[in-house]
This record gives sequence, structure tokens and C-alpha cells, in this order.
Amino acid sequence: MSRRVLVVDDEKGVREALQQVLEFEDIEVHTCASGLDALQAYADFRPHLVFLDVKMQGLDGLEVLRLLRELDAQAQVVMISGHGTIQTAVEATQLGAYDFLEKPLDTDRILLTLRNALLHVDLSVENVRLRAEVEAQYEIVGSSKAIKTVIERIEKVAPTPARVLITGENGTGKELVARAIHALSPRSRGPFVEVNCAAIPSELIESELFGHLKGSFTGAMSDRPGKFELADGGTLFLDEIGDMSLSAQAKVLRALQEGVISRIGSGKPLQVDVRVIAATNKMLEQEIAMGRFREDLLYRLNVVPIEVPPLRSRRADIPQLVRHFTDQLSGTGRAGLKPKEFDEAALKLLAVHDWPGNIRELKNAVERLLILAAGDTVTDTDVGKLVGDGGRTIAAGGAIVGGVPFRAGTFEEFKQAAEKWYLLAKLKEHDWNVSETARTLAMPRSNLYKKIERYHLGRES
Ligand SMILES: Nc1ncnc2c1ncn2[C@@H]1O[C@H](COP(=O)(O)OP(=O)(O)OP(=O)(O)O)[C@@H](O)[C@H]1O
Ligand SMILES: [Mg+2]
Repeated sequence: MSRRVLVVDDEKGVREALQQVLEFEDIEVHTCASGLDALQAYADFRPHLVFLDVKMQGLDGLEVLRLLRELDAQAQVVMISGHGTIQTAVEATQLGAYDFLEKPLDTDRILLTLRNALLHVDLSVENVRLRAEVEAQYEIVGSSKAIKTVIERIEKVAPTPARVLITGENGTGKELVARAIHALSPRSRGPFVEVNCAAIPSELIESELFGHLKGSFTGAMSDRPGKFELADGGTLFLDEIGDMSLSAQAKVLRALQEGVISRIGSGKPLQVDVRVIAATNKMLEQEIAMGRFREDLLYRLNVVPIEVPPLRSRRADIPQLVRHFTDQLSGTGRAGLKPKEFDEAALKLLAVHDWPGNIRELKNAVERLLILAAGDTVTDTDVGKLVGDGGRTIAAGGAIVGGVPFRAGTFEEFKQAAEKWYLLAKLKEHDWNVSETARTLAMPRSNLYKKIERYHLGRES
């Protein structure tokens, strides 16, 4: 790939010298004699890298640097400094310039700086790409009313320092919500530290959260910071908080009340600046009633509650989620599966499944279908065979057939119910004229008679 470099200097000699060296390296070069020209040229030429003189007539180098970075936050700039301007060039690196070259220019030094700067350009392009990929991974997809309410709440609470308690069934996207709040908060550049309280044995949770000093208990081989310390300046996500032991709850409560912690074995208080977001799939009120959760901790954590709805109460999002996961799993990402279309019948059938495992279950189902469905298009037959318990049951209360809720049953039964309803509707449409109905259905009349008998269809049904 050919690289483009913009050279900006009011000295003709410097422009020509740089141009010659760079072109020898197969680089496409554009030169400008003033800052104003450079700003214009930057937009048209889209250089990978800019060599920019510090001291120029009119707009000086620092001013141009600032404007360039405003125009393009990713702009990569190497300053060129004369004798009197080294101090300014150093300042420029603090304003985002990558490096500086000193006059008189030395070919080896130019080439070295060029190579390093281009490497840096590659890395930052890669970085932007990776960040976009990571962000896409955490995108909250859906436009149902239920998910919109959640998103609105996230947008309201994120910029504030308020604590948030996220509740919802397994796999509904609680962690995604926590990450979104962090990403939209003023702490987004700080760390996001996650602790799964259910996965850590109760005797270790304190040390995990608050850290310890070497020798403070058997197995404490060295000093270690806890998650509260690691999350300083950022967000601490206490996942599955309902599974935390009562003694750890007491410690967390203290940390939240006083804003200070201390490592186990050290009396020294440490001030930490942490925003806590907690999540649970348990009914904490019920846990409180059973004496397993501290009421005062609930009030501390639950400043702003967010309830993530189960997938079955936002079925409208299913087609969009299927598309999202298909893109995610078949893109350049890790899974690299072959993309497939889902036909309408397949999407309809996915929309009536009950999804006890919520979005995580749907994501797994999409992955299974992409891997196992035979053709390039995923059909309702594939869904019937491969989703849920092999598609044998349509969940209770899930499907509506002919305006009547279809109770739990096998996939075959569901199809029959659908067919029954469809035939009934067609017969009514043709005022029970069997020949005419059979004709519009492109079905032999004898066949239709058999089905009428099998489904006990009649004017009263
Ligand atoms: N609205 C959404 N849009 C896109 N992907 C989603 C959405 N909600 C959840 N997911 C995806 O579903 C999966 C489960 O989400 P997540 O881990 O956040 O759920 P959870 O509620 O924390 O689950 P658990 O209770 O099991 O810990 C993840 O892969 C997540 O990326
Ligand atoms: Mg989770």
C-alpha cells in the first residue's frame, strides 16, 4: 500500500530535501508552504503522516497542529524544528505530535523517524479497528419498547456518579448494561473491573475485593491489590451480588459508606474513587426476608434500579438480534462462520420460542443454526430440528395460532395447529365451497376433504 505524506515548511530547500528522501522510499508526497495551504491539502490528500515546521509565517506550526488534530483526532504529525524552536517542538509532542526532527535535516534521522511514525500509524489504525470491534461486541441491540426503556435509563444514569443495581434473569444482558453505563460515563477511560461474586469462594472474596499483605493469611504469598483498588478512577462491577457471603457484604457496605478500604493485614486506610454497579438474578427482597442479604446494603446499591426484561417479553427484537448475531459470528471476528439468511418462517418460529436462557440462548441457537443448517438459508424446519429441546416443544403461552394461544406441545403439533387454522380461514373465505378452496390452495379436492375430516373442521369450529 502506498503511503501519503504531507510536508509543510515555508523553506523551499527543506520541502525539496524531504520530498526527495521520501519519494526515494516510494512514498507519495505533497508539499505546502504555509499552514493554511496545509489545512486545505490535508482534507483532500488524506495523508498518513504530516511533517510540520514549527516556525512559519502566518499560522505557526503549533496552531496548525491543533487545527489538524481538531479536523482529525487521529492525525499523525512529526514536527520539524529549527535551532531556536526545540523547546516548542517538545511542547508539541505534549499536544499530540508523535515526534520531532531537528534542522539541519539528516537523511538517516529522517528515515528512522519516518519508519517509526508509520509503524505508529499502523498501530493506531489497528487500535481504532479493534476498539470498534470491541464496542460492536457490547452494542445493545433492539428497538422494542422494553429495551428502549432500559437504554433511556442507561443514558440518564451513566453521566452521574450514582450506583446502579441491575436485575434480570440469566442471559438477559445485565453485563452488557453495566459496560454501557461505564462506556457512557465520564469514567470511560478508567478501568472497568468485574468481580463475579458467585464464582469466588467465600473465604477468598474479601482478599479478592480489598487485597492483602504478604503473610496476612495462609496462602498470601505476596502483597496484592484488591479489585476496589484496581478499579480506582473507574467502575467496579459486582456481578451476582446476591451470592455474596454476609461477612463480605458487611465489608462492602463499609467501603461504600466511607469510601475507604484497607488491604487484609494492613490497618492503613486507602481512599478509592470507584463507582459501583451491581447485578443479580435473585430477588434481593426475598433474600433479605430469608436473612441472606443485608437490607442496608441493598439500599446503598440500589440508588438507581435497572430491570432488564426477559427476551420473551420483547420478542419483537428477535429478528434484529438474529441478524446481529449472524453478522457477529460470520464477520471477520473469531467464529468466522459462513453467513446465512433466515427465511421468514424460521424467524417466526424463533419468535415464538420461550427462550428460558434469554439472549445468550438465542445467540447459541443462531450459532448452531449457522453451523448445522444444511442450505444457505435457514428454514423453519432447521429451527424445528435444532433449536431448544430439538424443537420438540413450543413453549407454553408462546405461540398464537389463529388468534388462539397455543399451549405447550410438540413442533409437529404446532405445525398441525397452524395448518388447521389456515385451512379453516380459507374455507370461511370461500364460504365453505370445498372445490373452490382446494383450487386456490392448489390442492386436490380429495386431499382437502381428508384434512377437513382429520381436523374435524366444520362451520362451528
Ligand atoms: N440487547 C442485546 N444486544 C446484543 N447482544 C446482547 C444483548 N443482550 C445480551 N446480549 C448478548 O447476550 C449474551 C448474554 O449477555 P450478558 O452476559 O450481558 O447477560 P447476563 O444477564 O449478564 O447473564 P448472566 O445472568 O448469565 O450473567 C452476551 O453474549 C451479550 O453480548
Ligand atoms: Mg452476567
